[in-house]
Amino acid sequence: MTTPSDPTTDQTTDPATAGHTADTTPSVVHLTSGGVSVVLDLGAGRLPVVAWWGAALGDLSAAELDAVVRGGLAGVVPNELDEPEVVELLPLASGGWRGQPGLEGHSAGTSWTPLFRAQATTLADRVLTVHGVDEQSGLAVDVVVELLGSGLLRSRAAVTRTSGDEFVVDSLQIALPVPRRAQEVLDLAGRWGRERAPQRLPFVVGAHLRDSRRGRTGADASLVLAAGTPGFGFSSGEVWTLHVAWSGDHREYAERMASGTSVIGGGELLLPGEVRLAAGETYQGPWVYASWGRGLDAAAARFHEHLRSRPGHPSSPRPVVLNTWEAVYFDHDLDRLVELARAAAEVGAERFVLDDGWFRGRRDDTAGLGDWFVDETVWPDGLEPLIGAVRELGLDFGIWVEPEMVNPDSDLARAHPEWMLAPAGRLPMTGRSQQVLDLGHPEAYAYLLERLTDLLGSHDVAYVKWDHNRDLLEAGHSPTGTPGVHEQTLALYRLLDELRGRFPAVEIESCSSGGARADLGVLERTDRVWASDNIDPLERQQIQRWTSQLLPGEIVGSHVGSPHSHSTGRTHTLAFRAGTALFSHFGVEWDVSRASADERAELARWVDLYKEVRPLVHSGRVVRADHVDESSLLHGVVSQDGSDALFALVQLTTPLTSATGSVPLPGLDPARRYRVQLQAPGDVPRTRSDSPPPWVVDGGVVLSGGVLSEQGLQLPALHPEQLLLLRATAL
Ligand code: DGJ
Repeated sequence: MTTPSDPTTDQTTDPATAGHTADTTPSVVHLTSGGVSVVLDLGAGRLPVVAWWGAALGDLSAAELDAVVRGGLAGVVPNELDEPEVVELLPLASGGWRGQPGLEGHSAGTSWTPLFRAQATTLADRVLTVHGVDEQSGLAVDVVVELLGSGLLRSRAAVTRTSGDEFVVDSLQIALPVPRRAQEVLDLAGRWGRERAPQRLPFVVGAHLRDSRRGRTGADASLVLAAGTPGFGFSSGEVWTLHVAWSGDHREYAERMASGTSVIGGGELLLPGEVRLAAGETYQGPWVYASWGRGLDAAAARFHEHLRSRPGHPSSPRPVVLNTWEAVYFDHDLDRLVELARAAAEVGAERFVLDDGWFRGRRDDTAGLGDWFVDETVWPDGLEPLIGAVRELGLDFGIWVEPEMVNPDSDLARAHPEWMLAPAGRLPMTGRSQQVLDLGHPEAYAYLLERLTDLLGSHDVAYVKWDHNRDLLEAGHSPTGTPGVHEQTLALYRLLDELRGRFPAVEIESCSSGGARADLGVLERTDRVWASDNIDPLERQQIQRWTSQLLPGEIVGSHVGSPHSHSTGRTHTLAFRAGTALFSHFGVEWDVSRASADERAELARWVDLYKEVRPLVHSGRVVRADHVDESSLLHGVVSQDGSDALFALVQLTTPLTSATGSVPLPGLDPARRYRVQLQAPGDVPRTRSDSPPPWVVDGGVVLSGGVLSEQGLQLPALHPEQLLLLRATAL
């Protein structure tokens, strides 16, 4: 719904003085949806200024909207600029802005400080577009702001060189103001194998810049950057969060000015001279998504709702995956893999994914990337015997590729050294013994498209695991070495789009050394991400908890590994491993053909549970309890209608105190009564006490949602690295 104010009653926005062309867009625009309001002031005749972004404000009269606009302005103070500081969506010095600029660039030192006059605005279906022009600078911008049904806001901008000599774009960043009461910043850091580690800091004067210069999203990407009221949590406080939907270099930032004006913003990071616009050319930045909420869970829910509303969002039940990586690594042997597929089928797997190691020369991770032909020495009869066996067992078949990468030790690199991204005259450092193929090179792109088309066209493949295991470093086009990350990112998107056009039924997973390419840009053309190479469930609890700030469980892969974690050396029970994978797209990455009969039988019970709960887990609301105690956490999924919920109490370490208290179960409907029971097969694990709470012994308890979500339930005292599943069903 949009609520236009009446321009005739709005003294600040006379279209004539404001420089609008005669169009019908009001000077103050109120977009509201999904419990969120965004009020945009167009009255100055420049780029839109966000006067309010936050809780829905209800129906507002023109006078009330005018008051909102005035309320959004900073005061004029002595010894400062003579006009109030405003934050245009692309904040510029011509509007008085002295923080991170919305547009940086120049034409041989000129055209560097534009002032855009709105020449045309349109408003339809909660989408506002403004075309701004600066004839003097020879530049125009198009800014789009859209409030999606979920209440998720998104905005993007494009800059056009309208006249004059070449204009070099250095940056184009969208900024959104947040109220002064947002006094803390939280975003995610991390590294390979420990992705999505939260960091919280005071929102002080200055800029907190989260730059990713890795040519991919990054294992350390902020993913979602949040500013919020002091102490904000999963269900408390107010948060304003932001995500840049881009899989190449990008920036997310929070900035507070000396005036107290505060913004969060971001965009693509451009390398020097990477975007040069001749007259008539345009550079378009990525979508910047922003989600407000009362608590992080509410902000996350808007991202989830948006992702789930995509036309291409996976609609079929997410199949149980058996991935071969940690089961056999490079030890590809038909008999062994068929045995593995048989064991996988017996425990209930539905998809078999052949990981790294099937193509020419790939006997370890130092050679072969680029040679996308089935290795005849390992697979003398091709992949068909394996695929045939897998299909006969009733599983679909998936395969691993890493198309953008090339090992110097490969036929491809030997034949086409000029296809590698590199500065002029030398190669950059290798990473995992590999270089990056220049997708901006038309022949390299055509080669990949042909190889992948052949692979998918000549085999019965339902799923592709698309890996990307090194950063783009000094990524220049040959032979001149001009920067190539921007073009590489666009070419990847083109390649994925082209393949999806040719093979619409094939699902694609975005994997990148684990979770280093998880963003809404790549997810416009892929079906799931691999959250981390680390499948130790203790680590995964935190990684998944924070990945869910952006992504719902059905598009995040999580696998049950072997009892002894390959990443950390820890040993965990099957209940802890499977109970952790249960809340995502569940899979197995363990040589189950060598597991004991008891282990297989137990795993089969977990697979059955996953199949039973996946409709709930893959459509419900993610809830994360704010504080259980310092040693444990609780999370869950509640169905959208509040009738069903699954929670996990996860004991991370030993607690400082000896007895447990009651633990609230968040997200339940206070007006309903629920039966709460332990969920089998995750029954009572080893506890620190011989006397679990009576309701555990009695087989359940009935309580109101109000009691359960406020006082909560007394839970058994668990030993560390144990997990308890609870099911709450409305009566
Ligand atoms: C990194 C991935 O994240 C792993 O799951 C596996 O596919 C390896 N690459 C294979 O090289």
